[in-house]
Amino acid sequence: MRIERLHPDFGAEIHGVGLIEATSDAAVFAQVCAAFEEYSVLVWRDQPVTDDVQATFSRGFGPLELVKVGSAGHGTFYSRMSNIGQDGKIVPPSDKSLIIARANQLWHTDSSFKQIPAVASVLSARVIPEQGGETEFTSTRAAWERLSAAEQAALRDAVVIHSYATSRNKIDRTMMTPEEHAALPAVRRRMTWRNPVNGRCSLYLASHAGAIEGMGDQDGADMLADLIERATEPAYTYVHSWRPSDVVMWDNRATMHRGRPWGPNQLRSIVRTTISATEQSGLNDVLPERWEQRAAA
Ligand code: OGA
Ligand code: MN
Repeated sequence: MRIERLHPDFGAEIHGVGLIEATSDAAVFAQVCAAFEEYSVLVWRDQPVTDDVQATFSRGFGPLELVKVGSAGHGTFYSRMSNIGQDGKIVPPSDKSLIIARANQLWHTDSSFKQIPAVASVLSARVIPEQGGETEFTSTRAAWERLSAAEQAALRDAVVIHSYATSRNKIDRTMMTPEEHAALPAVRRRMTWRNPVNGRCSLYLASHAGAIEGMGDQDGADMLADLIERATEPAYTYVHSWRPSDVVMWDNRATMHRGRPWGPNQLRSIVRTTISATEQSGLNDVLPERWEQRAAA
């Protein structure tokens, strides 16, 4: 396995070892896991994976999330983000998938709004436009390390309110169904996530983050916007230009990402599997009720 750095702060392309080799050889898988913990974003080219291969590989990192109500692939392991209709043609402009794509163009980390957040996401490119439709990443571990000691002290234990409605309302206040509202109440998360493997801390931010406990609504929203802006300056991002059969995996604890727009009439279809956080990935650090239980024990 050979590692090619993609950005000074984070990101690596993996050469010489594909998803199938990683899944079928424990020593190789351990190397991929170590690269994931170290580099936060891993890229493979030329991996024409099936759903099964993608899920089997992803499962090595922890339990798979089921796709939430209201999203394509609901109830399965496969979040299908596609503008291709049943007839193989592009969906009409009013289609929900296009609104979802716009919401994915806000800086975010996946599933921060769920009861159990996600440690990692694995995305495979099935159909990719000729131009545009890149995905941009930044390291929130590097963003944390760039803060002053005083800022770190003030933010380390801050509690942030995340909710799916926060990010969706930025795009279209009518896009969530009543079922989605009922299934996705707001959650509390610590603003920092410490990686238990290497002890490194990161800012845990997302478009889903709307308020900071103990701060006024506007002050909290302004502080979140400022932290996101500072974390995502162009010099700090890696822009992934997709080719068909690329696979990209990222650490939702230590990065943010956003999609970029692409031209009208261009087909795009991607499939994401998402791995739930567990105690091993430091879940205790971001669920305030668990730190309270720990303190009481
Ligand atoms: C995702 C996502 C952005 C994109 O799959 O989680 O945010 O470029 N995708 O489609
Ligand atoms: Mn995403």
